[in-house]
Amino acid sequence: MTLCALAAGVTPPAEMPGTTIIPPSPQRSGDPEAGYRYLLYGDMVGHGIPIEVYRKVNKTVSPDDLGRTGDSQGIPFMFNVVETANGVKVVAPTCLTCHAEKLNGQLIVGLGNNTYDHTREQSGTFRASDIMLQVGYGKNSAEWAAYSPLSRGYKAVGPYIRTAVRGVNPADKIFAALAAHRKADDLSWLDEPQFAIPTEVVPTDVPAWWLLKKKNALYYNALGRGDFARLSAASGMLTMTDSTEARRVDAHMVDVIAWIRTLEPPRYPFPIDAQLAAKGQVIFEDNCSECHGSYGETSTYPNRVVELATIGTDPLLAEVYQKYPEYHTWYNASWYAQEPHKAELAPTDGYIAPPLDGVWATAPYLHNGSVPTLDDLLNSPQRPAYWRRSFDNSDYDPAKLGWRYTVETARKKNEIYDTTLPGYGNGGHTFGDRLSADERRAVLEYLKTL
Ligand code: HEC
Ligand code: HEC
Repeated sequence: MTLCALAAGVTPPAEMPGTTIIPPSPQRSGDPEAGYRYLLYGDMVGHGIPIEVYRKVNKTVSPDDLGRTGDSQGIPFMFNVVETANGVKVVAPTCLTCHAEKLNGQLIVGLGNNTYDHTREQSGTFRASDIMLQVGYGKNSAEWAAYSPLSRGYKAVGPYIRTAVRGVNPADKIFAALAAHRKADDLSWLDEPQFAIPTEVVPTDVPAWWLLKKKNALYYNALGRGDFARLSAASGMLTMTDSTEARRVDAHMVDVIAWIRTLEPPRYPFPIDAQLAAKGQVIFEDNCSECHGSYGETSTYPNRVVELATIGTDPLLAEVYQKYPEYHTWYNASWYAQEPHKAELAPTDGYIAPPLDGVWATAPYLHNGSVPTLDDLLNSPQRPAYWRRSFDNSDYDPAKLGWRYTVETARKKNEIYDTTLPGYGNGGHTFGDRLSADERRAVLEYLKTL
């Protein structure tokens, strides 16, 4: 152990075949309070539907889950009301479209959305509102200028981002498709895609934001390296005119990342058997900590990426980056990859073992959300091939830790998760299979305490 590691009280993570450790990279510091304000009121997406039009079409007033004031009051939590450069107030989507979710009746900012239905094609909605805006304001109006980049972005990516089942997210593909439409250096829009957009829509779950403070790389395959604020500023790619807007979003993302780093996981709301959990801790530390770290007073987290051959979970997400290098090649030459505070996309051939803080709350499990409960995750022969949940996030199963579900025999509806599809597989991660039923019960009890 080096003196420096001794001084910090940390032991470097052990070498382990089939895995690599990701080292930390320098990060900017920011103001958490300003970051939260930006999430609730900010212009990370700088164009949207003029509020007059929005109010005409949407008569319902949404509950103030976020306690917002001003124009954003009564608007669903996944939109902010922002003023565009030409002075038009618009309703624009935000990070919380994907990074906030209800659990047991309460909205939790930072919990990944796991209910949205991305199986629907949304370009049609935008073609209809295009006509409304053109008739109502005309193509030379400030309103059209404030709105049309949003429509342009959605229509360009819409056909490429439909998932096969409800609840999973196509975000990786959204960014690849948008990159195809942007010049690398100044991020200005190109009507024709400059590289072939992958045909595969790889489904993912949305990771909980409270895990970020432990991570040295972003995303399931540890793709995102360098400055985390710069990486997260990519949301502007949906509508921005050019890199001037990217620079503005980047400056605010420093604060957003600072706020995300303050987040703590929600506590398990049902009773815990402390004695059984203590037994589980010992088993966890013998069988799981090498990859997932340890928890409590002296917590550790190795940032370990596990190769596909070792982890054995669905390979498609990691493979797509190897098969289509155009997107990360574009990124690594783009505005986002310039100093100072550069970001980089560095795909690996595996997945990072995530921290398990608050894991009870983040069902379904694995990077593609293919396993409905922790009980099934720890016992791979028991995982259902087809399963269906209610998508009511009060339907929590404290016995199995995850969503209540029924086992189905085919994907008759999009609400049924189909693990036989490419990208949707539920195999691999068989580390729990080695344990006895009693040991698994103890580990599950321990996981409730994280
Ligand atoms: C369309 C849905 C969507 C939107 C909008 C979105 N994200 Fe994400 N985000 C995701 C998904 C999905 C992932 C995981 C992708 C992966 O790992 O392959 C992710 C990953 C992340 C991560 C990395 C987490 C980790 O542990 O690796 C951060 C940080 C993040 N997003 C921040 C943001 C911020 C900040 C915004 C708004 C500026 C935003 N996201 C907007 C879907 C979204
Ligand atoms: C060799 C490293 C390794 C070992 C050992 C290991 N895991 Fe994992 N674990 C991973 C990786 C990598 C993933 C992510 C796989 C994916 O999403 O495809 C993961 C995912 C998980 C998840 C899902 C997290 C989520 O939010 O979806 C849980 C829960 C989990 N592991 C628990 C355990 C437990 C409990 C043990 C011990 C019995 C264990 N793991 C042993 C590497 C490991």
